[in-house]
Amino acid sequence: MYKSRISGLGHFLPPSSVSNQDLCMLMDTSDEWIQERTGIKSRRWVDSNNITSSSQMGYQASLKAIENSGINKSDIDHILFATISPDHYFPGNGVLVQDLLGLDTIGATDIRNACSGFIYALSVANAYVQTGQYENILVIGSELQSPVLDKTTNGRDLSVIFGDGAGAAIISRSNNTSEIFSTHLHSEGKNALELSMKGPSAIHWVDKLERNQISPENFAPQMNGTLVFKNAIVRFEQVINEALNKNKMSSRDIGCLIPHQANLRISQFVQKKLGLRDNQVFNNIQKYGNTTGASIPIALSEAVEQGHVKRGDIVCLAAFGAGFTWGSALLRY
Ligand code: ACO
Repeated sequence: MYKSRISGLGHFLPPSSVSNQDLCMLMDTSDEWIQERTGIKSRRWVDSNNITSSSQMGYQASLKAIENSGINKSDIDHILFATISPDHYFPGNGVLVQDLLGLDTIGATDIRNACSGFIYALSVANAYVQTGQYENILVIGSELQSPVLDKTTNGRDLSVIFGDGAGAAIISRSNNTSEIFSTHLHSEGKNALELSMKGPSAIHWVDKLERNQISPENFAPQMNGTLVFKNAIVRFEQVINEALNKNKMSSRDIGCLIPHQANLRISQFVQKKLGLRDNQVFNNIQKYGNTTGASIPIALSEAVEQGHVKRGDIVCLAAFGAGFTWGSALLRY
């Protein structure tokens, strides 16, 4: 069996930054409320002058990841694209990036596990490389969320949280100096609708909305915030410990924990429960908001760019989100 590693990373954020003050013009909210509850100061939202899509943002992040990995794009054997905000109902975004990159007819898989999507995709990539089926896999997490948010006071509990952006990683056969040790995936479908957007879907179709057969709330994200918070802090801790136990490590061994950027309060809670120092945890939700499946690759790419994560460091990635799904990955970067 082979081992895999992250050979390159890249991220892309739309240029337009939207501050909490900007949101006060759209809805009844305040900078104090948003910062106190979520830690967010601003987020990136695409604007009408810079229209883009999750596939385009994923493509931009991929170009940087390919460059940083040192491989040629023609060396990529497969694409895994994690998103819950794809360009189309079908086909998925993976094939769009395959075309944008001008790659040969390699396979492309889409994964729609929301905030856990990147960890799920990383886990699949790791398994593909371990079996020897592929040597270099492009893994993308990209989300264009701002257009579907309800930016009125009615939707303020969610719309202040989410942002747009993309991150990408090249997963390659390991050179033994860095490697992915293990990945751990979980789900609990009984909570599926506690964090969801029901339509448009085959059973919540747009013409039913037009005929007043479906309430408009079904076409915007809905969240039971308290339940999400309570589950997130438990599952994050469990799945991080699962990864540490599997590899006979303790929280002291973690060089950098990159949690899904759900909410700064959740990250701080998890940090405290695991007894981690501030310099062992990387957060950037303050600047970018919650970018769902893109948050981990954006944060990891930025942490490497800023020198918080260096080659040889032990890195733990962990996510929790809609499904509920949650997961972790422990690796030597
Ligand atoms: N601005 C001002 N007031 C607001 C806003 C807002 N943006 N949103 C809600 N409120 C109001 C509510 O209407 C409510 O008013 P009321 O008391 O008059 O009814 C009041 O603030 C408190 O609302 P709560 O929902 O009880 O606020 P809470 O303190 O629970 O914070 C939050 C809400 C931040 C969503 C919280 O539940 C939370 O942290 N949940 C964790 C979930 C999370 O962060 N999810 C991230 C996305 S999912 C993921 O990535 C896993």
